Amino acid sequence: MRIMVIKELAEKYKDYIIERRRFFHQIPELSFEEVETTKALVEELEAMGIEVQTFPDYTGVVGYIRGGKKGKTVMLRADIDALPMEEHTGLPFAATNGKMHACGHDAHIAMLLGAAKILVEIKDQLEGDVKLLFQAAEESCYGAKYYVEKGVLDDVDAIFGMHIWGTLEAPYMCLEPGGRMASCDNFKITVSGQAAHGSAPHLGKDAIVAAAAIINNIQTFVSRVNDPLNPLVVTIGTIKGGQRFNIIADRVEMEGTIRTYSRELRNTIEERLRKIIVDTASALGCEAELEYYYYPGPIINEHEDLNRLAREAAIKLYGEEYLVSMPKLMGSEDFAYFMEKVPGFYGFIGALNKEKGIIYSNHSDKFTVDEDVLHRGSALYAQFAHDFLAAK
Ligand code: NI
Repeated sequence: MRIMVIKELAEKYKDYIIERRRFFHQIPELSFEEVETTKALVEELEAMGIEVQTFPDYTGVVGYIRGGKKGKTVMLRADIDALPMEEHTGLPFAATNGKMHACGHDAHIAMLLGAAKILVEIKDQLEGDVKLLFQAAEESCYGAKYYVEKGVLDDVDAIFGMHIWGTLEAPYMCLEPGGRMASCDNFKITVSGQAAHGSAPHLGKDAIVAAAAIINNIQTFVSRVNDPLNPLVVTIGTIKGGQRFNIIADRVEMEGTIRTYSRELRNTIEERLRKIIVDTASALGCEAELEYYYYPGPIINEHEDLNRLAREAAIKLYGEEYLVSMPKLMGSEDFAYFMEKVPGFYGFIGALNKEKGIIYSNHSDKFTVDEDVLHRGSALYAQFAHDFLAAK
């Protein structure tokens, strides 16, 4: 009976959800700057009679829906930030401020607002409380950390999040167990040498040659140190060095990122990378320094009960035929900070619709979503929350 109710309520709010997606699509704001977005969300939640928590020094908002019965607390999360890029979708509601909801976080906002509407209507039946987290700054890789540090998850028993995905066909969902997204750690390498005339390399220490050797040698980390069955990416994304064509460079700076699923390997990377970098530079008469920054760990759906709950919630709503498999990704998600704190589940919902010309991937300047899936996302959020609270 209740199952039908959630599905029907999602249908009832379909237009509202699409309208909200278009509204937020037009006011994209970058990580940590989601001021108007937060303001609009607070108004929206308060209009639904939902109690809100805001943060004086941070964007984003938490909504509280108190269930009719005492019980556990479940958190539903949507990220709310946009990217610094010009939109070229040609949509009538395209953003024009040089920023763009190119990752679909506008869709996440709309889906969670839809879930809020549904949950408010059935709150007397809820056997516990639901917290809605509209989270700032996901694109920064660490926006989630703030809420954990502020204790927002202290009373939470489980958390659920999902991403709308440009290469996944609408209206399918991917709610698979196991590794879904990789960890993300970034690093900076500084190589120091000694300047000399470009025609007299023997009088200097060439930081550019040392940097080139370092770039090649750190790839042996992937090919020779790492177990080939372990996905691992080591990327140098920037390199800056040298002053002039006829000066031996005395300084090179490089930045990069490391992605993996293995927590064990991840714990050893910094030290092993440093050894390769320092020793390579030293062999060439230079010095090198490594600064290593830890960002989110991997997203691994590893709680059997939540894996089952998410899958069954989707099957109850739309049937097993709408569940599909998708390869895991080497991209990252700061939702991992929440999953380190409380048991969590992370899923994907399809945005792709070739017939409607919706074919671009997330972070493309032409990315958009099949809006007809959004109410399904709302239903899944609500069903997951309802079922988690009802589970004994
Ligand atoms: Ni995203």
